[in-house]
Amino acid sequence: MDLAPVYDPLDHQTLVDPYPLYAELRANRPIFWHDTMRSWVLTRYRDCRDVLKNYQDYARDRRRVGEDVPEFRQSLQSLDPPHQAPLRSLLMSSFRNQEPVQIAQRVQGRLQSLFDRLAERDTFDLMTEVAAPIALSVTSELIGVAEPDGPTYAEISEGIAYRMDAGLAPERAAVGDSARHRLNQLVENWLGDEDRPGVLSDVRNRAQQAQVPEHYIRNTTGMMFNASYGTIYATAGNVVLTLLRRPDLLDAIRADPRLLPTAVDELIRYDGPAQGTSRVAVCRMVVDDTVIEPGDIVLTLLAAANRDPDQFTDPERIVLDRAPNQHLSFGWGPHACVGALFGRAAIRELIVGLLRAPRRLRLAGTPTRRPTATVRTIGILPVTFHPEFAAD
Ligand code: HEM
Repeated sequence: MDLAPVYDPLDHQTLVDPYPLYAELRANRPIFWHDTMRSWVLTRYRDCRDVLKNYQDYARDRRRVGEDVPEFRQSLQSLDPPHQAPLRSLLMSSFRNQEPVQIAQRVQGRLQSLFDRLAERDTFDLMTEVAAPIALSVTSELIGVAEPDGPTYAEISEGIAYRMDAGLAPERAAVGDSARHRLNQLVENWLGDEDRPGVLSDVRNRAQQAQVPEHYIRNTTGMMFNASYGTIYATAGNVVLTLLRRPDLLDAIRADPRLLPTAVDELIRYDGPAQGTSRVAVCRMVVDDTVIEPGDIVLTLLAAANRDPDQFTDPERIVLDRAPNQHLSFGWGPHACVGALFGRAAIRELIVGLLRAPRRLRLAGTPTRRPTATVRTIGILPVTFHPEFAAD
């Protein structure tokens, strides 16, 4: 049965709050065909995790179902095990060589000077003034490249987020392709720059020995830069909005800072940016009574799985000390996020920054959502440090 008319990820109400619809789908049609996206949509935790884990039967690499993957699209993301192993382990070990504490300290320093300056203003947009510069500086420092101009990169990242929805709105492909082209130019500049400490230099120094072709490094650098910037930016907005709407949560962390590590994961589970990710079936698969044919696309709705009551007790509630908390916001299996440690660190520092800010941050107006379905992001988040400008 085609549920495209029921589930329109770009519908305004769904963009504002998709979770009631996810709950309904999970309960009544946990797996269904979506005509517009030409995909099977999976909403249950166990089904989504099974697909992400089972790379033998569900591929990321479209060459495994006979499609062509042009060289400019070949990156860590387009390779499955065992072929992804040299590049993936090269990256993982480079990430392990980075210093999360040092990066966290720099973020904290930057946040404090941002908040001191912004405390002088009546109101400001948290996305432009805080989420974007923090995402850009963490990403540039971690990867070890010159920080691009903020507004320019914001445009590139927005274009790429639109590109991810091309299956729903084909006109978004063109704007996304031009953004990717601009990102590729940045990558060329970075590769021509002098070496800086960070993941890129580490990876480049060891790529030859690890027998990873040069174009994989080039393509993965751009993909990784945007995977980091786009998700830290979006997560920062989602998490801060949750905390603004529920000041008791920040009070609880202030009263017991030991809650911080589990709180970070719980807030990312509760409203993470990546709504879904897809794979292609390599062979005929049966899930419940649904037959998935080879070549069919399977979309795992991570955000729906993250609120599955069969996996999480009281999933609609934010439980700051939730443990275990095996949410899917960083994916699962061989393509799980390589930068999760640093994504968590950035969000943790943001929360610490809010706790240390000279005054309590409050909502100063109605937040607007960006009309992107794959990456759930706030467009504008009006906030203030001055009670007289607060909307609450
Ligand atoms: C809170 C922040 C972050 C979130 C929510 C997040 C989320 C995700 C998710 C859901 C995936 C899996 C996609 C899939 O299975 O198709 C992923 C993959 C990835 N992420 Fe992250 N991410 C974050 C931060 C970062 C950072 C800081 C970096 C790097 C500096 C990064 C780099 C990557 C890369 C390279 C992949 C592709 C891995 C592969 O395909 O093997 N991410 N991320």
